[in-house]
Amino acid sequence: MRVSIFGTGYVGLVTGACFAEVGNDVVCVDVDATKIEALNRGEIPIFEPGLEAMVMRNREAGRLQFTTDADQAVGHGEFQFIAVGTPPEEDGSADLRHVLAVADSIAASMDEARIIVDKSTVPVGTADRVRETVERRLHTRGVAVPYSVVSNPEFLKEGAAIDDFMKPERVIVGCDDARAREKLHALYAPFNRNHDRLISMDVRSAELTKYAANAMLATKISFMNELANIADRVGADIERVRIGIGADPRIGYHFIYPGAGYGGSCFPKDVQALARTAHDVDYVPQLLQAVEEVNDRQKHYLFNRIREHYHGDLTGRRFALWGLSFKPNTDDMREAASRRLMESLWEAGASVQAFDPKAMDEVRRLYGDRAGLTLCDSPDATLEGCDALVIMTEWNQFRSPDFDLIRTRLNEPVIFDGRNLYDPAVLAGLGFHYYAIGRPP
Ligand code: UGA
Repeated sequence: MRVSIFGTGYVGLVTGACFAEVGNDVVCVDVDATKIEALNRGEIPIFEPGLEAMVMRNREAGRLQFTTDADQAVGHGEFQFIAVGTPPEEDGSADLRHVLAVADSIAASMDEARIIVDKSTVPVGTADRVRETVERRLHTRGVAVPYSVVSNPEFLKEGAAIDDFMKPERVIVGCDDARAREKLHALYAPFNRNHDRLISMDVRSAELTKYAANAMLATKISFMNELANIADRVGADIERVRIGIGADPRIGYHFIYPGAGYGGSCFPKDVQALARTAHDVDYVPQLLQAVEEVNDRQKHYLFNRIREHYHGDLTGRRFALWGLSFKPNTDDMREAASRRLMESLWEAGASVQAFDPKAMDEVRRLYGDRAGLTLCDSPDATLEGCDALVIMTEWNQFRSPDFDLIRTRLNEPVIFDGRNLYDPAVLAGLGFHYYAIGRPP
């Protein structure tokens, strides 16, 4: 089948590569010429396990092309996927300019039946706005071309995106027209393992499903972070509580890890956008507001522990930081808890020596050679001359470090752990002051 994808960001690129991988003929289009040139040289703008090899393989096989030519893409694909960004506006609502601009450019040159698929995370009602945009343009052109607008939200996790796409738990198809639904079914057939993964529904429910999923996951995390704060105050251990409640299959073990606050390009933005949608229809989303507030507070948790440990004075202190990306297996720094921590430390007069396995270039791009930040090329190198070690991202390589080396390199044996990686009893035995989230020392 012929597929065109607008937007070569995270979602667009993964979607394009995976559709090509199963034999489709895919054209990816982006307005950013530099990005398209880089992709045509085989350079992938993001780090995502397996993506580079998949893009290369399919480019070489001639099934995956990159272009800035929107008309070519419109002429190419029976399916026109919209996978461009929806950045948050000041009031938290999603900015639909890019989505609607793509809808307009599809309508500007389409002259055969097209299925327009919203893959970007877009507020409820966006498919209607896409349809209006297409209608308007076709009307100006004075032509009538049959088309459908489908909502097919993406549920990829960064760091596992290829696997998530190739072996989806579900594929949501929001569609008010049977012919388009059948076509989508055929397109996704190669990804249906064991049983049909396709869940069909009306367009608005599909649009809301995307937000509902992310908001539910964010709620689980904020709930656990809130409980961690209570555990601290009553002398309980949140890790034991986590194991205790997760055993109930109605609760489950997934996504109940307390931490330094959720980050990334999705949860913060989507919780806000859903709250905005609710306000727009005169509903006060109390729970969603609380989820966001708890997360915001959690991003200060480690800084507060650090400040307390040093009796409120951090001037001239130096901290080793392990992990900068918002989660492991990605170089994404968007809304990463590490940023809030570093900024608070700098403001308090402290400095940071940091290491991340993948996000160093991104950190350089964000902070340049900012005073107070030294980027080191190994975890061990960060420790030299520091007062304490702070862990912000649970990369596997931090899970079993050489604690003797840490103790000798640091000025004092102190660890602040934002991801609860170690056993407090073991660390106490090794002579560390160990601060974790919601765990007694
Ligand atoms: C999230 C969703 O998990 C995907 O299903 C969704 O498709 C995606 O957003 C999206 O909307 O595009 P992602 O942002 O890649 O995926 O990252 P997650 O793995 O969900 O982690 C988000 C944040 O939550 C991270 O900062 C992570 O450290 C934190 N987290 C996660 C916790 O603090 N505790 C947990 O138990 C789990």
